Amino acid sequence: MKILAIETSCDETAVAVLEASGGIKKPKFKILENIISSQIKIHQPFGGVVPSLAKREHTKNLPLIYKKLLRSPAKGGKSYNLKPNLVAVTVGPGLEPALWAGIEFAKALSAKLKKPLIGVNHLEGHLYSSLLPSKSSKNPPDGRQIKAKSLKIIFPTIVLLVSGGHTVLLKMDSLTKWKTLGETRDDAAGEAFDKVARLLKLPYPGGPEIEKLAKIGNPMAIDFPRPMLKDKNYDFSFSGLKTSVLYHLRDNPKENTADMAASFQQSVIDVLVGKTMRAVDNFNAKSVMLCGGVAANKTLRKSLAGASKKYRVGFIVPDMRFNTDNATMIAAAAYMSVLRKKKLPLKANGNLGI
Ligand code: KG4
Ligand code: ZN
Repeated sequence: MKILAIETSCDETAVAVLEASGGIKKPKFKILENIISSQIKIHQPFGGVVPSLAKREHTKNLPLIYKKLLRSPAKGGKSYNLKPNLVAVTVGPGLEPALWAGIEFAKALSAKLKKPLIGVNHLEGHLYSSLLPSKSSKNPPDGRQIKAKSLKIIFPTIVLLVSGGHTVLLKMDSLTKWKTLGETRDDAAGEAFDKVARLLKLPYPGGPEIEKLAKIGNPMAIDFPRPMLKDKNYDFSFSGLKTSVLYHLRDNPKENTADMAASFQQSVIDVLVGKTMRAVDNFNAKSVMLCGGVAANKTLRKSLAGASKKYRVGFIVPDMRFNTDNATMIAAAAYMSVLRKKKLPLKANGNLGI
């Protein structure tokens, strides 16, 4: 099955074509096209994503990207017959105006191509992103993707889904069965990175900027709190940590920003890794799966890889290009929805849960 997917839940306009085969126990994917057009430059002056601007840009960009897709960037611009069997679009969660831009475009496309249209949960996209093949065998650092043949041995797996809008810990018993163990009570991990970056006068999106600056800082320099690390539940809270950074900066205006970035990042990582591994222990999990935009953070990847090794469980991460928002993961989730006979209404739902 050839799936054409569209993703516009936030500030990336993305379109992908994925060839999917195999059953629910052994799905296989071949990436044909993966195009992402980022709006970062447009939102940067505002320090975050402006929903109305995002919608306008998606509406403007989608026809342009689709045109580009028809000349297959993956095949060096050769024109080819796209002919998908299915069109898929993200319906939530995300910014509703932005989601609607994608849904409207997908509806028109599905009518034009005379192919069915399916709505996809963005979080399921992140969840299945580790099923996508890796570009290189040296995918840094330490993690691996799920190979169809290894599907049997990874469950139960503890999934840490960390993005700009979500921080969720799940216990997954199979590719179709999972349970939420806990989630953030306030800011998501990515959101905390973005807000702290703003305090440190770094551009949006803050995650990659903090990671870059943290490389030359000392993670032990400032002892920021580790919120909820010792609590016996699987929930998170990052807004107090952000406030601690604010107060520290207020009281120490000459503080080294690299040390602040490194210490803040370490605090977030300690909490994420600590809680994930406690879940691994409690539920006798066989592996840990990391996904979502914050999974692009190499220090977090290394740290979770190291902890997984210590606990003698597998560590699964998506290929570097599939951590942050993309349409290939949406196509993969669409295929899983088809296999699961799951249907979502074709309307934007900003608060859709997993
Ligand atoms: O999954 P994603 O692309 O969009 C949402 O679904 O929210 O995640 C975006 C988030 C942003 O908050 C961004 O700052 C964060 O992921 N992020 C990172 C890194 N790259 C992206 N956070 C920490 N380190 C990174 N390298
Ligand atoms: Zn996302």
